[in-house]
Amino acid sequence: VNRTPLIAGNWKMNLDHLQAVAFVQKLHWTLKEAKHEAGSVEVAVFPPFTDLRTVQTLLDADKIDFALGGQDLSAHDSGAYTGEISGQFLAKLDAKYVIIGHSERRQFHNETDEVVAAKTQAALRHGLAPVICVGETSEDLEKFGASAVPVGQLEVALEGVAADADIVVAYEPVWAIGSGQAATPDQAQEVCAKLRAVVADKLGADAAARTRVLYGGSVKSGNIAGFMREPDVDGALVGGASLVVDEFAAIVRFQK
Ligand code: G3H
Repeated sequence: VNRTPLIAGNWKMNLDHLQAVAFVQKLHWTLKEAKHEAGSVEVAVFPPFTDLRTVQTLLDADKIDFALGGQDLSAHDSGAYTGEISGQFLAKLDAKYVIIGHSERRQFHNETDEVVAAKTQAALRHGLAPVICVGETSEDLEKFGASAVPVGQLEVALEGVAADADIVVAYEPVWAIGSGQAATPDQAQEVCAKLRAVVADKLGADAAARTRVLYGGSVKSGNIAGFMREPDVDGALVGGASLVVDEFAAIVRFQK
């Protein structure tokens, strides 16, 4: 199976709606000038909720071929949940993806594996592809090795997910996020292969062959090549480097 690589830019809590427009336009032109061939790799941006409408309008008006995603969603569809964002709102803005269970949400918003599973179901109910984030902290790494925690997290998230569901898995070792200390390509490959085996176990061999497994954690233009060479790494979830046009464009332009 030929999996189209996915380069996903998680802006986190950065870029207001005006900065977002300038950024997306500049990224588009930078890739165009570099004669980047759209379609060889899928580019997705994950702006803050308040930028989504503006970015969607721009992508649409200028026929820019980037997919759009939310950074989180509510496990509920509507109702008395002040401050929450429903998957149906994201779907109406043509979002294709939604990040679920990012380690910052697990850490700062107490999201448990069960919450992540409920949000995964909510995303799928609204036709959004969940980008399910899993990864071990440095304490987990010392105690259990690299793969036990992310494997366990993914097993819970995939509970009750249909075999034909469109999902993305992102392996993000917490110690590598924003630290400048990325995993090695070997380390990423080892865990990504185990995560693909979880998809095979839970959703079947077809799903495992089709599902993209991303690596995230201090990815930059200087180290993307090593990750993309690995057979089970199908792209990257990029934080800091996704906010620098030339860096992100260079990551996108790396062909598997
Ligand atoms: O979602 C993105 C990740 O948390 C990676 O962030 O590239 O800044 O390490 P980073």
